[in-house]
Amino acid sequence: DRVTAVTGAAGGIGAATVAALVSAGRPVAALDIDQDGLRALCGDLQERRPNEAHTVQAHTVDIRDRAAVEAALDKVEAGLGPVTGLVNVAGVLRPSPVVSTTDDDWAATFAVNTTGVFVACRAAARRMAERGQGAIVTVGSNAGGVPRTGMAAYAASKAAAAHFTRCLGLELAPHGVRCNIVSPGSTDTPMLRALGAGDVVEGDLASFRTGIPLGRVADPRDVAEAVLFLLSEKARHITMHELYVDGGAALRA
Ligand code: NAI
Repeated sequence: DRVTAVTGAAGGIGAATVAALVSAGRPVAALDIDQDGLRALCGDLQERRPNEAHTVQAHTVDIRDRAAVEAALDKVEAGLGPVTGLVNVAGVLRPSPVVSTTDDDWAATFAVNTTGVFVACRAAARRMAERGQGAIVTVGSNAGGVPRTGMAAYAASKAAAAHFTRCLGLELAPHGVRCNIVSPGSTDTPMLRALGAGDVVEGDLASFRTGIPLGRVADPRDVAEAVLFLLSEKARHITMHELYVDGGAALRA
């Protein structure tokens, strides 16, 4: 019961979300374009949680492929049961100042971060609305709310995904489906480390701590906990909300 589909499940925040859901006893459909990453995730869960690892079904899916997303959800429902949760985690970041951002950078960013969220939400929303039950969480970014240099395409794609999720929440509220956004700040994942390539060395994320009032870079589990809360019954009266999990970075004076 309470099957949750997680896109971008092989990445830092996605894998932490899958692990947290498994720990909470919830069956999970782990979707990602990265087949090796999904294999590593399942192997890791098998090792650490041998009794629950079977509740994870992995599907190699490109979120840009509408038919593949629909087919994966059909398989998930046939194997695990009705999907009542969706977490949109898949995302890409191609940092560059606007003057050197190519058409391809722009399109590739929106294809995953914005259209991918639409495609997964539409597929899940149809199923959830019909059954009168469900919760969706989109992982945005605090860059979607605060202007950043060198990230305009990414920030705009995340702002659009967040607002789309709020609008969806309004449409689905009468059907008993809640839609929220968790917007992380700097979080220690492969994406962040790639961004800092050159000046981030293992165990030293000092450059990213600057500007974070709580003085630390997030662990992916910090983000996963917020996602789990918003999916859970504890958040039953919360919808169309954006929860920043960024150590105060976005809202500091
Ligand atoms: P990550 O790069 O570790 O994980 C992203 C995952 O998305 C990867 O497993 C990748 O294979 C998957 N993915 C990419 N394109 C895909 C596609 N077309 N179809 C299916 N899966 C695809 O990155 P991380 O840091 O775990 O990011 C997760 C989310 O959190 C992203 O949406 C990111 O924008 C957001 N975020 C991350 C922050 C950070 O500091 N790490 C800060 C704010 C937001």
